[in-house]
Amino acid sequence: MNDEMLTRCRLDAEELVSGRLMPGDEAPELLSLRPSRLSEYIGQRELVESLLIAIEAAKGRGEPLEHLLFHGPPGLGKTTLAHIIANEMGSQLTVTSGPALEKGGDLLGLLTHLEEGDVLFVDEIHRTPRAVEELLYPAMEDFAVDFVFDKGIHARSHRFRLKRFTLVGATTRVGMLSAPLRDRFGMMRSLDFYGIDDLVRITRRSAALLEMSIDADGARCLAERSRGTPRIVNRLLKRVRDYAQVRGDGRVDCTVVEAALALEGVDALGLTRLDRRYLKTIIEFYDGGPVGIEAIAATLQEDVDTLVDVVEPYLLANGMVIRTSAGRRAGNEAFRHLGLKAQGKLF
Ligand SMILES: Nc1ncnc2c1ncn2[C@@H]1O[C@H](COP(=O)(O)OP(=O)(O)O)[C@@H](O)[C@H]1O
Ligand SMILES: [Mg+2]
Repeated sequence: MNDEMLTRCRLDAEELVSGRLMPGDEAPELLSLRPSRLSEYIGQRELVESLLIAIEAAKGRGEPLEHLLFHGPPGLGKTTLAHIIANEMGSQLTVTSGPALEKGGDLLGLLTHLEEGDVLFVDEIHRTPRAVEELLYPAMEDFAVDFVFDKGIHARSHRFRLKRFTLVGATTRVGMLSAPLRDRFGMMRSLDFYGIDDLVRITRRSAALLEMSIDADGARCLAERSRGTPRIVNRLLKRVRDYAQVRGDGRVDCTVVEAALALEGVDALGLTRLDRRYLKTIIEFYDGGPVGIEAIAATLQEDVDTLVDVVEPYLLANGMVIRTSAGRRAGNEAFRHLGLKAQGKLF
């Protein structure tokens, strides 16, 4: 995609506060906001601490880092960590994704080009085809791949030795990973939504890099609307910067943030129209729930994956929606936020 196409790629309001990766996120300006060292990576303290220890220990022993799996909702910094790890280890990073590895040969091509200590990042690893996944097992465990030539009675298997590398996997759906794959990671860590103080720090850091002037209240207002997600902080900042430039004098305070984001249908908690439609569907259409995700998706005419990966995680984390074995239920927070009464139900 060229620059012109990128600038034409304006996100609509739903996309603006979706954690999911959009083409515009790969624009050089946004990519430049990505921290490149662990010391610049804000928040996720325990995770960062265990990585610092693991990296120092591996370096001390002169060995590659063990295989790592990061899981959590989109936009929280999984890909960023893969880049940082390669940087900190002083090694090369190769990036691919589960769906891109269609055939065994695709993976083999990447694996045989890895040098000692290199990092292979497999994004959306839960979407790796089964046959390719099975090649990963010996690659991860023994740094070897068994490749079968010919078929039937002529079939011969050849074992390729690989350099010792580190596989970094990322997934939004850890539950969809097979047990044999999960077991081959030395370290599995979840990334959580960021707290408000970390989001404020990320806002200030990104604003400084974008040479924006934003005051303390402005940073807090923006952080509160970013759904606990750094990717959304960066996107909202750019939107607010445009607004401040055109409608104001370029400086950003809370009033500017509110005005710019109200235009996009983003409310004080960062909820979009889709979030509110989702909640209202449960409350008004299904009487507060419990209701199955398929029924909600059908009513909203949205696909289940979007609701599960993008809409629900933040609402679940905030008690707006509750998952039960019988389905989704609207939480007290949802009624409060939408200004509705919990119609005589016990919540
Ligand atoms: N801990 C962090 N500190 C500062 N910025 C971050 C952090 N985590 C993520 N970001 C920003 O958010 C963007 C999205 O992160 P990314 O790693 O692509 O998320 P994921 O791979 O989990 O979907 C990054 O480009 C980076 O600018
Ligand atoms: Mg990613």
